[in-house]
Parts: sequence; C-alpha cells; structure tokens
Amino acid sequence: MPFPADSGPGVRRLLAAAGQAPSIHNTQPWRLQITARSVELFADPDRRLRTGDPRGRSLHVSCGAALFNLRLAIRVAGFQPLTWLMPGSEAKPHLLAIVHTPEFGPPSPTELELYANIATRRTNREPYSERRLPPWVLADLRIAASREGANLVPLEGQASADLLDYVAMAGDELAGDPGYLAELRAWTTRGTRADGLPSGVLGPPPAGDPAVIRDFGTHTARPAERFERHPQIAVLTTGGDRPADWLRAGQALQRVLLLASAHGVSASFLNQPLDLRDMRHRTDPHHRLGHAQMIIRLGYGPPVPRAPRRPPAELGTGRV
Ligand SMILES: Cc1cc2nc3c(=O)[nH]c(=O)nc-3n(C[C@H](O)[C@H](O)[C@H](O)COP(=O)(O)O)c2cc1C
Repeated sequence: MPFPADSGPGVRRLLAAAGQAPSIHNTQPWRLQITARSVELFADPDRRLRTGDPRGRSLHVSCGAALFNLRLAIRVAGFQPLTWLMPGSEAKPHLLAIVHTPEFGPPSPTELELYANIATRRTNREPYSERRLPPWVLADLRIAASREGANLVPLEGQASADLLDYVAMAGDELAGDPGYLAELRAWTTRGTRADGLPSGVLGPPPAGDPAVIRDFGTHTARPAERFERHPQIAVLTTGGDRPADWLRAGQALQRVLLLASAHGVSASFLNQPLDLRDMRHRTDPHHRLGHAQMIIRLGYGPPVPRAPRRPPAELGTGRV
C-alpha cells in the first residue's frame, strides 16, 4: 500500500486533517513537510501571539492537537505513526515533531470513529443544557487524556466555583491590558479571512454569572443570554511544563475533543487564567500532580457554525 505522500490527494488528506485542529484564536500556527517516509511538523512563529502567549505554550498545545489529527489520518491510511517530539535540530529551529510511518494494518473502529469526528468537531460557545454528562462518558474522556500522557481533572462544587471566579478575575485583568486587546482585535474578524474568529462563532454575551466564555470584544451584535447554572468544568494537566509536555497536552486535548464529539458532547474553553502566569499556578487543581494546560467546559449545546480554515495547500509550503 503506498504511503499517502505518494499521491496528491493523499497529501491533501493529511494536510486537511491536521489543519482542522483547534488552535488558540484560530491562529493555525503550524506547517507540515510530508515525504515518502515521514512527516515533519513545524511551528509557524509568525502566528504566535506575542503578548498572550510569550512562551509559545498555547502555540505548542495547538500544534499538538494538529499532530494528533495527523497521527489519526496516518493510521486511517494503514500506516503506524511513530512520533518523536521535539527532536531538536539546529538546522530546523521550529521543528516540533517527526512522525515516521512504517506500513502497519487497517485502522480500528475507534480510530475510524475519531477520524470521522475531525470534520464535525467544533468549539461550541453557546449556552448548554442543564443535562449532566453521564459518569461513564466522563470516565471515557479521562481515559482518552491519560492515553496521551495527560490528566483530565473534572471539578465539582467549590473547586469549580473557585475556578470560575479566577476566570472572571483573569478576564477583568486582561480587559485592562492594551497589548492583549490589540491581539484579540487582530484575530477577531469579519468573516473574510481563512483564519481568526468571525463573529458567528463567538457565542452570545453571557447574561449574569457565571461568565463561561471568553469576552472577545464587541464583534457580536447578539443579545445577552443565560448560560447553564452549573457548568461542567474539567482541567487538562500534564506532569511537566516544557514544550514536549505542551505538545502532549495538545494531543490529549484533541483525543478528548474528538471522543467528546463522538459522544455528542460539546466543548469550549476558559483559558483566561492560563494567559496570566501568576494566576495559572493558582488555578491548577492538583499543584503537585501537574500543570494546567486547558480549562474545558463540557456539556450539550446546539449546532454551531464552523470556524474558517486555510486551504490545505497553504500548510505544506513556506519557511520552516
Ligand atoms: C491552546 C488553545 C487555547 C484556546 N483557548 C480558548 C479560549 O480561552 N476561549 C475560547 O473560546 N476558545 C479557545 N480556544 C478555541 C479556539 O478559539 C478554536 O479552536 C479555534 O477558533 C478554531 O475553532 P474550532 O475549534 O471550532 O475548530 C483555544 C484553543 C486552543 C487549541
């Protein structure tokens, strides 16, 4: 069986799968080089948020999510993705991962199901119903995170209320930061671009507490709406806090999100406290067990439009 790199449509499928991943502010900060035997994933430094993401943590988490999609696409094509994170190459400073692709065998039903959800998964910033996730679904999502070397820690009661307070405090602090606001303006769009956040995906402004979605500014003309009273919040954590851990977090995030989507579960994110270094430490539910990488809201929401994507051909070229 030929590796997808041997055909134009095969290459396009790999690029399209990677390109559908979630990314901070839909910056899509990745590039790929596909050869007959391996795929190299690169960060695109021009797409890093200089104020909101000075260390490139969110960029790496985003690229980790793209890497998970890429691995799935390689499996679905009948190959085994053997992944080397942060291989360290002086000649290629932005290289994040090399995926070798020996021939393997047909994908499992689970891999096929996750792959099918790459195109349908979306960040859902609408109000969710009050229905709780069944414990077995939550358990399934936790196992998905641990398979990628991360922890998904669901918060209940006071821990959840405390975290939502931090989200609100972080939101207030960020709203007074001109650099952060300028960056937000640069990535919230009128829907004419192939990246960034058009107003149609931002959700309505929340009426009252808890404020469970990020305030992206004034681009949405929708009236305020009430969100669910008791949002289900889970924090994705990793043992370490270096670039390889961030890539692991991204892969775990995407495995969790695709599985959630397969279960009909929506997700959105409240990462505001993670954008502030001091606060990030305090929001970590298990200080000794890990570092918070994503704050995730889970639940059952209405259908939402798709955020735009750059054409696959744009991801495989340019400076690496
Ligand atoms: C590392 C990371 C951080 C994110 N943080 C937030 C956030 O704080 N608030 C939010 O609404 N969306 C957040 N997102 C979601 C992105 O905005 C979303 O993935 C992107 O706009 C593409 O849309 P899609 O997920 O519907 O494909 C985050 C995504 C990633 C990967």
